[in-house]
Amino acid sequence: MKILILNGPNLNLLGERDRSIYGLKSLSEIENCLVSRASELGVEVLFFQSNHEGYLIDKIQETAGKVDGLIINPGALTHYSYTLRDALADLKIPTIEVHLSNIFAREAFRNTTITAPVCTGLIAGFGWRSYLTALELIVSIINDRGK
Ligand code: DQA
Repeated sequence: MKILILNGPNLNLLGERDRSIYGLKSLSEIENCLVSRASELGVEVLFFQSNHEGYLIDKIQETAGKVDGLIINPGALTHYSYTLRDALADLKIPTIEVHLSNIFAREAFRNTTITAPVCTGLIAGFGWRSYLTALELIVSIINDRGK
């Protein structure tokens, strides 16, 4: 089983940007945690981060038929990207949107997610653990589908 984990704009700066909101771990530290958990679960994780909307969409289209599930933190694209939403809507695999922060408890413009309605579900507010929980859930969902 292969799971693609995508991160959008500015998430390359995790560990440096507003640590009181996004936590202390860098993106590569979070990815290392995910690799460890993935190996315990017996699955493979692939990572991609970009600050460019189109590159994220290219990656989604390229890998669509090659992975079993997608976990995505679209960063601020969450709140306005109809193009990213359309790319996600075309997917036929389980998709989980994650956020480190609780976007519903922050500024009004972050309270809307354009992308979550076309995902299987949303996990927000648990810091780096949002990703870990998403990984555990998506593997369980995919395993159930195989039964
Ligand atoms: C974020 C929340 C977004 O509003 C913000 O623009 C980010 C990070 C999160 O993980 O909490 O870049 O997606």
